[in-house]
Amino acid sequence: MIIVITCSAPGKTHLIGEHSVVYGEPAIIISVGKRAYISAEKSESVKIDAQDISQKGEFSVLELKEFEEKLQQVWDNCFETKNFTPLYSLLKDEHLGHIKAMIAKTMAELDINTPFSLKISSEIPIGSGLGSSAALSVAVPKALSELFKNNLTLDEINQVAYKIESLAHGTPSGGDNSICCYGGALWFKKGTPNVIEPLHLDFKMKNFVLVFTGTPQLTTGELVANVRSLNPEYRTPRVEKLGILTYEMRECLSKQDFARMKELMNSAQELLTELGVSIDEIDRIHTAVKEINGGAKLSGAGGGGYMICYHEDLQLLTQIIKDLGYVPEKVELGVEGVRTERR
Ligand code: PMV
Repeated sequence: MIIVITCSAPGKTHLIGEHSVVYGEPAIIISVGKRAYISAEKSESVKIDAQDISQKGEFSVLELKEFEEKLQQVWDNCFETKNFTPLYSLLKDEHLGHIKAMIAKTMAELDINTPFSLKISSEIPIGSGLGSSAALSVAVPKALSELFKNNLTLDEINQVAYKIESLAHGTPSGGDNSICCYGGALWFKKGTPNVIEPLHLDFKMKNFVLVFTGTPQLTTGELVANVRSLNPEYRTPRVEKLGILTYEMRECLSKQDFARMKELMNSAQELLTELGVSIDEIDRIHTAVKEINGGAKLSGAGGGGYMICYHEDLQLLTQIIKDLGYVPEKVELGVEGVRTERR
């Protein structure tokens, strides 16, 4: 009998704390009801069928081993020189580079030497701040751990996912893979060890909408690098301010003070604009939503992608967004993390 394992992981939205989380400040990240799915079965060679991007590939176990070693070497050099451009170029130039990297890293970490085939399909738009790569970085080790009976714990899956995310983005905070792994809503703070606390939000979250503002021209790694290249005298006070807002956000979520929550979202957006990761379209939506007394900010790395917006009057909020020519999307928030799908 052929055994097929299917696993899925959700996408995510940053309520607050993106970018500043890279510098050790906390972030509040919430899973969203759009999922990435991986189906895995044993096979005679490693076959990848990435259905959303209509790309396929076939590789030997040895080829993937060598690719992983090369990637790790390039990553080490990039880390030393504090310039990850060669890593990003390597991934872009290679056929199915990102997916191959995820699979190769998982094989190395789980000591898998037997081939398998993977089918990948995802409801999460690629490269738009909703955690498309983080969801896969969690779902791939989960599916392979089930297929090869490694029985990894959630924490172990998250550790492998972080290594995968590092290959894709250089030095990520680890927040994205954590929320895609554990689901719900998380208080995340990078450190040794990371602080990862579930936030038990009473999801009066019905009045949130997500808005797609366009495909970012830059990747997460590039946007993070741009912020890093700012003069520390300019960057640090803004990063610290974002940290203060995030602590206050936790407070006001626990008190269900949505009026203050909106103000915090707006202040965070204005600081992210100052850090250079917003775009005109985002600023325009932010201004319009703020004018009707709502909250609106980018979500994730920025440069376009998704925004998260809130208003008590959902009809008014959706109307304003539509008037600007955008499509407000209602999605479930705080959904389950990585899981095995029932066969
Ligand atoms: O846009 P995304 O989904 O890749 O989110 C990036 C979040 C950042 O804080 C900008 C980077 C990070 O590693 O946390």
